[in-house]
Amino acid sequence: MERTLSSQTPEKKGESVRVEGWVDSRRDHGKIIFLDIRDREGMVQVVFTPQAEAAYAAVQEVRPEWVVAIEGVVQERPASMKNPDSASGEVEISAEHLRVYSQSLTPPFPLNTDGYEIGEEHRLKYRYLDLRRKRLQKNLRIRSASLQFIRNYLSKEGFVEIETPILTKSTPEGARDFVVPSRLYPGTFYALPQSPQQYKQLLQIAGHERYFQVVRCFRDEDPRADRQPEFTQLDIEMSFTNQEEILSLLESLYIALAQNLFGEKHIQQIPFPRIPYKEAMEKWGTDKPDLRKNKNDPDELAFAFITDFPAFEWKEQEKRWDAVHHPFTLTQTNDMEEIKKDPGSVLAYQYDLALNGYEVAGGSLRIYDPEFLTQVLEFMGNKREDIEKQFGHLLSAFQYGAPPHGGIASGLDRLFAVLLCEPSIRETMAFPKTGDSRDLMMDSPSEISEEQLNELSLSVKKQENHDA
Ligand code: AMO
Repeated sequence: MERTLSSQTPEKKGESVRVEGWVDSRRDHGKIIFLDIRDREGMVQVVFTPQAEAAYAAVQEVRPEWVVAIEGVVQERPASMKNPDSASGEVEISAEHLRVYSQSLTPPFPLNTDGYEIGEEHRLKYRYLDLRRKRLQKNLRIRSASLQFIRNYLSKEGFVEIETPILTKSTPEGARDFVVPSRLYPGTFYALPQSPQQYKQLLQIAGHERYFQVVRCFRDEDPRADRQPEFTQLDIEMSFTNQEEILSLLESLYIALAQNLFGEKHIQQIPFPRIPYKEAMEKWGTDKPDLRKNKNDPDELAFAFITDFPAFEWKEQEKRWDAVHHPFTLTQTNDMEEIKKDPGSVLAYQYDLALNGYEVAGGSLRIYDPEFLTQVLEFMGNKREDIEKQFGHLLSAFQYGAPPHGGIASGLDRLFAVLLCEPSIRETMAFPKTGDSRDLMMDSPSEISEEQLNELSLSVKKQENHDA
């Protein structure tokens, strides 16, 4: 018999069906035993009575989280027994056959709660069980539907989704790189991308005037509630554009996303306010202010673009000026003399999107004149030969007809955390790392064999007092 999903059972009153899924709960009412069977669509109640002898005998053993198939007849429940909270709450299945596919150990924690009460390390060690809970099932489904929506929206706007390499070269996004040793070239390393910044700029030179990518980025920084060593960006880059066009695009996209998939949300102000960085710092002392009028209302979304960031900041330790964002950011003046006179006062075409106190996107217009880019890199203390080594590929590409371009990247994990009212981005990811950057389920990071080390021409310095 073909499988019927729990949600389809109300249409099949009086019919024989076969349902398959996990035993969500089991209730023993003397002679009658109830199982709630959970599948991807929800739950359906199954009743076992002594009349169905074999099934009744078999169900005595069955415990929560066992995986079973049940055949039986769908019956309307008596009016007083209907459950309006469940899609299949008006019916139940009177069991005739029971087959056990798999037994289950008793789960190490309850799966029928929202899970916030359980220690996170415990949850992440058994993430495959933790993910069975309704809240996380919902989060991952809404995330999937949102990604689908974003892809369709941008495709309709003429954007092309292009994948860029994960094994790449260090990019200056300001965090530490994760590196991967090369076997073929001993002593050399790939870096995992902190973002696809240089590739998306190179794609503009390649003629992909409207690029986007839902892309994994890697930064070796300490995790926080809103930060993970690997996270997902919605990365966008456009040619022949200006700041307002880029901001409006993201604004329209997120308004449409909220309206289509998060109907309960209310966007406080449309168009999103555009607030210069200086004003934000003066008024709220932060570049990601929480502008909600009523901060107790989880369904209020206060988006705001923060614009006109300073281009350069003084690095006291290194005694040099550095880019606030990254060195490709276009300054609002292209007069090198003026820049050198008072670097701290130079503004950039750089912007962030703040949402309820979180930075959910950042981007800029880019320098596309190779001579000016070289001058800016030199001004930030880079020697000519280092510039050639680190940025030579970009500078030579810029000599073959570089269009004016700019873009933005949005942290999707953070965006979904706000939209789903979650306290941490980990609740929006299937397999996040712990607060100390470990994957307790896979037991990673872990040592590799002597053979692997040899192949990579690596040796590990033994650390004294290493008590991990
Ligand atoms: P930026 O470094 O501002 O810009 O990153 C863009 C957005 O990514 C999110 N984000 C993170 N989310 C989770 N964990 C992290 N560790 C993390 N780091 C960043 C934030 C942030 O706003 N290449 C530029 C974009 C551009 O210029 O187009 C970039 O990556 O929401």
